[in-house]
Amino acid sequence: MTTKRTPLLVGNWKMHKSLAEARADFSAIAELGPKHKDKIQLGIAPVSLHLISLADIRSTHVGVYAQNVHWATSGAYTGEWSAEMLKDIHVQGAIVAHSERRQMNAESNARSGEKIAALLKQGLDVIYCVGETLEEREAGKLEAVLESQLREALATANLSSLPPYEEKFVIAYEPVWAIGTGKAATEKEAQEAHAFIRKTLAQLTTEDFASKVRILYGGSVKPDNIQAIMSQPDIDGALVGGASLSPDSFAALCTETGKSIC
Ligand code: PGA
Repeated sequence: MTTKRTPLLVGNWKMHKSLAEARADFSAIAELGPKHKDKIQLGIAPVSLHLISLADIRSTHVGVYAQNVHWATSGAYTGEWSAEMLKDIHVQGAIVAHSERRQMNAESNARSGEKIAALLKQGLDVIYCVGETLEEREAGKLEAVLESQLREALATANLSSLPPYEEKFVIAYEPVWAIGTGKAATEKEAQEAHAFIRKTLAQLTTEDFASKVRILYGGSVKPDNIQAIMSQPDIDGALVGGASLSPDSFAALCTETGKSIC
């Protein structure tokens, strides 16, 4: 594929930082934006309580992402928030079906599809997470797991009824065994999974759409391995947990990503 896809680097801050820390660190990261403008897109996903405050900083170069969203527009859903509400506070998009939410909040593929549709209808970005557990990989089920995570979510999302979305629909391949373990997938393992995801997307949608969708890798990405990961043809960025928490480390991730795309 020769399609040019702008690399995307998103920091998933999970349940970390006080509001003061989040504001200070986001402001420091926002200063990196202009340096990498047009070459790398940047994003930060803070805890939901901090979204409005970080979005108010109004960085033009670093998007603010939610770590989750509800599928409905409004209603009796205690503790939830909608895509419309995210748009209202100038949030760029949301992560959907992170493996921690799949495991701890029983997020299903079909439910994820509803969340994807809710976000795209509002013109917001989606980062849809897929990935296998170690048991699934060892049992030879990698491709079956990825295929069903994509097929079931896309069937519910009913993408053909939505506005053009290829720039807004992003997939993050995050093998569960690599998240927070310090044991990243090798670049070969990651590339194989990404190529399979792109091939499956082409079968489920169109060749053209699949060639434009960005697929991020996530799972123990660090400044010292991101360059090798990013040099793979089907890897278009990273979703980074631990190594995104400090602005210095985030800056190093940007610099190393920049080297891989020069
Ligand atoms: P990690 O987390 O970079 O700390 O492994 C990645 C993620 O959960 O998105």
